[in-house]
Amino acid sequence: MAASFGVCRLHFRALGGLDKFCLGLEPQTQVRFTSTTSALKAQTEKKTAKAAKESRTFQAIQEERKEEAERSVLISCPPKINEKKFLDYLSKHGTINKHFFYNSYGANAVVEFSSRESIASLKESINIPAVEHEAAVPFKSRLLSLKWPGSQSSNHPMPKFKEQSPPSINEITQLLSERDSMDEQLQCLTETLQLTEENISLRFLVCSLLRDIAGAYFPECIIRPFGSSVNSFGKLGCDVDMILDLDGIYATSQKKGSGLSLEYQVKRGASERAVTQSILSVIGKCVDQFGPGCVGVQSILQARCPLVRFAHQPSGFQCDLTANNRVAMKSSELLFLYGKLDPRVRHLVFSVRCWARAHSITSSIPGAWITNFSLTVMVVFFLQQRNPPILPTLDRLKELAEKLLQEFFEFYGNFPFNKASINIRKGKEQTKPETTALYIQNPFETTLNISKNVNATQLERFVALCRESAWLLQQKEILKQSSDSPWGFAALLLPSVTSGAGVKSRRKRKLEPASSRIKNLLDSLKIKGGETVAKKGSANARR
Ligand code: GTP
Ligand code: MG
Repeated sequence: MAASFGVCRLHFRALGGLDKFCLGLEPQTQVRFTSTTSALKAQTEKKTAKAAKESRTFQAIQEERKEEAERSVLISCPPKINEKKFLDYLSKHGTINKHFFYNSYGANAVVEFSSRESIASLKESINIPAVEHEAAVPFKSRLLSLKWPGSQSSNHPMPKFKEQSPPSINEITQLLSERDSMDEQLQCLTETLQLTEENISLRFLVCSLLRDIAGAYFPECIIRPFGSSVNSFGKLGCDVDMILDLDGIYATSQKKGSGLSLEYQVKRGASERAVTQSILSVIGKCVDQFGPGCVGVQSILQARCPLVRFAHQPSGFQCDLTANNRVAMKSSELLFLYGKLDPRVRHLVFSVRCWARAHSITSSIPGAWITNFSLTVMVVFFLQQRNPPILPTLDRLKELAEKLLQEFFEFYGNFPFNKASINIRKGKEQTKPETTALYIQNPFETTLNISKNVNATQLERFVALCRESAWLLQQKEILKQSSDSPWGFAALLLPSVTSGAGVKSRRKRKLEPASSRIKNLLDSLKIKGGETVAKKGSANARR
């Protein structure tokens, strides 16, 4: 043990000089030493690869995932699958890099080959199905169905299916109550809700499948995911926001000079918006009529940001396809960078989003509610406003970890929303330029308010819940009592009176912080009371 520590120290001091050091050691020691050295080298290489992976730019990550998606297929499978036979069958077309199974309207598999040629070879071997009483649109996509003739033996083990949906609020509450500290609860919440590797791959694959449809009109186009699918704040089950990126069409190898040149004849539209609308209208129709697995297609072309909305059944995703929306991609990158600065940024965003969802402050239906995007910008603004401003040293952040949530609620429970706006470009409150209830300046298009949709009632509910939750977090009774009753963050997810009985005036609520939710919680803690408080007392006495 002592020897390996010695090697370790040497390794870090002088990796290059290790060979010289080996000379002069007993042969037996040399063998042990050499194997320790190669293990250390391998470990260092692994660490370097990990560090390189973690330091990749946002664009590099997107590019890599897009490329992986282009080498992948999505296969609808029968309920019983012999995984080995399935993989052997597909391997005839080339090496398989990765695969996983999941459920969405039945069993499905994502299979990623190591080269694109495998996809071409696979496609050549597949037939368009003969359908009875109907006719098929003969569109050859990478969305396939596996036919398994005859009944399969049930002796083989079923493959593991990867979960693609988030747990319910009740399951989350239960899970969190089993943790030992609130810090652990917030970490556990992020780990439970965040998008998994497989789920992200599936999102990129759906974009790539859509690209194959749009590519019929615009061969140079790319469909890129943005929003919470890529900004690191996505929760399992969130929608897939997509951009039809036509920038590749404008790239040309022809040098501009004074001589002759050619240009394409093009159809002109009244404005950029009108052109976007006509492109999306045609692609929307194409997705509706030719896109396998795409249902409920709606073209919402009059919105501020025109879009095509549809459900992609084989993945279970709700999708919003926009075009000409570069700013949204930039906002996604900005949030991704904020999320990378420190893991606690993500913990805070996930907990605030989860808290807001549990109390219907946010909703999956569009309306006058605060959106997840606005909430995330509010968290960023709050962190910028801290003294010292976020993101201070890691040690300081660790001390702050549990306090941040409480202070977030205090901050917005007392924020002068009536006169001030939130501005993450300046990191300061600004005077509101208009009378909307909530004003959050768009960091890239600074004349726009990203929360224009929010009405006064929704904002009041948010403020009331912030105050209530801040108050609740100040009560020592919220600290861990026992795992069978929700405590800590889990207690904040319990239903509040504000969700049902309407919102009381802010002044009244200030005088009356103990809503019946808090009273009930405290009462329930007291009932277990004699026992749990006594337990806590004796634990303290032991310390
Ligand atoms: P969830 O889908 O709720 O998980 O979060 P999201 O961040 O993906 O939000 P949403 O699907 O509503 O919007 C997708 C992306 O569009 C956001 O991440 C932003 O980049 C952008 N976006 C949403 N709302 C606005 C807005 O009002 N103004 C601007 N400029 N961009 C917006
Ligand atoms: Mg989204």
